[in-house]
Order: sequence, then C-alpha cells, then structure tokens
Amino acid sequence: MKELEIKIPIQVFDSMDELEPKDRELLELAKKSVEKSHAPYSQFHVGAAVRLEDGQMIGGANHENAAYPMCLCAERSVLAAAHTSSPKTRVETIAITATTPSRTISEPISPCGACRQVILEFEDRFDSDMRIIMQGETGPIYILKSGKDIMPLSFGRMQL
Ligand code: THU
Repeated sequence: MKELEIKIPIQVFDSMDELEPKDRELLELAKKSVEKSHAPYSQFHVGAAVRLEDGQMIGGANHENAAYPMCLCAERSVLAAAHTSSPKTRVETIAITATTPSRTISEPISPCGACRQVILEFEDRFDSDMRIIMQGETGPIYILKSGKDIMPLSFGRMQL
C-alpha cells in the first residue's frame, strides 16, 4: 500500500488592492453582478464574471426557481452566456463572489461540484486552464490556476 497526497496551490491576497488590475476589474464585475441574482428562496446571492481571451468580460448570477432543483448557479449561468456570445473564444478567468442578508460572508466562495465539472469541460474543450478567483463579501481572495486543482480525480472525456 502507498498513499498519494494531493496538494492545491492557492494564491491568497488580503485585499482587492493587491490584485492585478485585470483581476480586480473582473472581481468588481462579479460583485456588481450579484445585483442580477434571483435568489428569493435561499437569499444566497452569487455573482460571477468571466474574462475571455479577447478581453471581453461577461457577468452573471444565480437564478432560482420554486422547483428547487432547477436552480442555476452563477458560474454555469455566466459560462453558458460566454459560450452563447463567443463559442470559440477561450475563457481565461472566472471570478465568483456572494452576499446574503443574514451575515457578512468573509470566506472565499468556491464553485459547487456541478460547476467544477462544467469548468473542467471548458478547460478540456480549449485544452487550457481556467483561472478561478474567489472571494466572499469581504475577507481573503483566493486565486487558483485551474479548475483541475479543485476537482482532482475528475471524470471527463478521456474516460469515455
Ligand atoms: N450557488 C451558486 O450560484 N454557485 C455555487 O457554486 C454554489 C451555489 C447558488 C445556487 C443557489 O441559488 C444558491 O447559491 C444557494 O445554494
């Protein structure tokens, strides 16, 4: 028997001032996109924004429905919008954040499992990594260089 250990490299920033201007701008758009959230059931308002290879930025948010399983996460919503507007353009970076009225979210908001799978599919399709920027309303900002870092031992096209 041997044991394998998986390490995740994460860049941690204390504030938005420490970010490169392009990343700060993208996180600002994610924060602005929280306003577009339709989350009357969970009151958990998630904003996401993507930067495409051509410099274009697109924002999106979560959309809930009274039939709960139909809820659409902000990440998948914005990735679908990016694909619809520019299907052949690589998504370089996605930024994610959230607010909720009951507390100040001070931990980084990380994509759910389903969104991680979708991020991987984008990476696979363009044979390139997608950077992920995460922050709560306040608190540290995490930057990961690829969706693969938060989806180790994943299932994908190679297994089919
Ligand atoms: N949500 C997202 O938008 N992204 C995630 O990665 C996790 C969860 C949304 C779905 C639902 O509308 C609300 O947050 C509470 O789960």
